[in-house]
Amino acid sequence: MATLHSIQISPPLLNSSCAWSSNLRDLQELYDSPFTGAITTRTATIAGFNQDESHTVVFSNSSLSALNSYGYSPHPLSEYLGWVKQILQGSTSDKPVIISITSPNADGLESMVSSIQELRRELGDLERTPSRIAIELNTSCPNIRHASPSGYSFVHLLPLLKTLSTAFEADQTLTIGLKLPPYVYREQFVDALQVLSGIMVSSRSPISFFACTNTLGSSLLFPEQVVAAQSADSQFAVPSATGGLSGESVHALALGNVYTFTQLLRGPEARFPSLSKIKIIGVGGVTSKEAMERMRKAGAGAVACATFYGKEGVRAFELLSS
Ligand SMILES: Cc1cc2nc3c(=O)[nH]c(=O)nc-3n(C[C@H](O)[C@H](O)[C@H](O)COP(=O)(O)O)c2cc1C
Repeated sequence: MATLHSIQISPPLLNSSCAWSSNLRDLQELYDSPFTGAITTRTATIAGFNQDESHTVVFSNSSLSALNSYGYSPHPLSEYLGWVKQILQGSTSDKPVIISITSPNADGLESMVSSIQELRRELGDLERTPSRIAIELNTSCPNIRHASPSGYSFVHLLPLLKTLSTAFEADQTLTIGLKLPPYVYREQFVDALQVLSGIMVSSRSPISFFACTNTLGSSLLFPEQVVAAQSADSQFAVPSATGGLSGESVHALALGNVYTFTQLLRGPEARFPSLSKIKIIGVGGVTSKEAMERMRKAGAGAVACATFYGKEGVRAFELLSS
């Protein structure tokens, strides 16, 4: 079992936010699986993302990897809140739902967090132990035109982090996490922690977990490298040419991100004692039990997958568990 502030993930295995956790049917099926200890919704915005045929996913024909050009969910947050309410009202389980959200500005984020808190209040989640609703702020989608992942520039993320910190100050039962992009050099990790160490609430971190990592942006595959490309005469495997790479191709990088954060948070050279309780959900190329165990060895408290789940359906969690 993994305890992430007020939520418990048992078993410590879940889906990470993705196109296959988009609607009520996906979410209910994930929730009903005895092999998931939590579920994560696809990233929602206030109004819903304008999805068209340029947004898609393809699987590699040489490894269990994928390339996707998706933005955020076409369904607005309000729709997810209705679905989460339905799922949780129909169950007495402690299994939590991690609601993935994003916003380009602090006002939008504040309103999204308040509507999630409103739902928690309605469901009695503020007084419940453990809680069943957590928030994950997605700072790392690589496919948004003219909006590079904010997780690559923590200083610019500060207004959003302050909004989360204010929400945590008002209600310290709230579990908040950040979905981070893959980092490739040490200062990126240190800068993130430096900024977070400056937003403490009565010496507690409002951020309780990191989900490491999102897909690796600016990646490209040609049609002959994938299963069932868009159309035989298309120039690239996805219409936007570049997209986010996931699955086995990013496993080593994801392990390195989980390991580096774990060392900086809790290792012999830990530099941010105030952040030492932040837990890590290890994500990236978890396609086998061995890969899941590697994530745990690198420091993950819980492990999540998207590509393997996209390939196998909800049975993926059973395969990872047996
Ligand atoms: C088709 C697809 C859609 C995704 N959509 C989201 C999303 O909406 N929000 C998010 O935080 N991550 C999203 N991701 C990233 C995954 O959550 C995960 O971080 C990444 O794919 C690496 O894990 P994996 O190798 O198990 O797929 C998406 C990934 C895929 C493949």
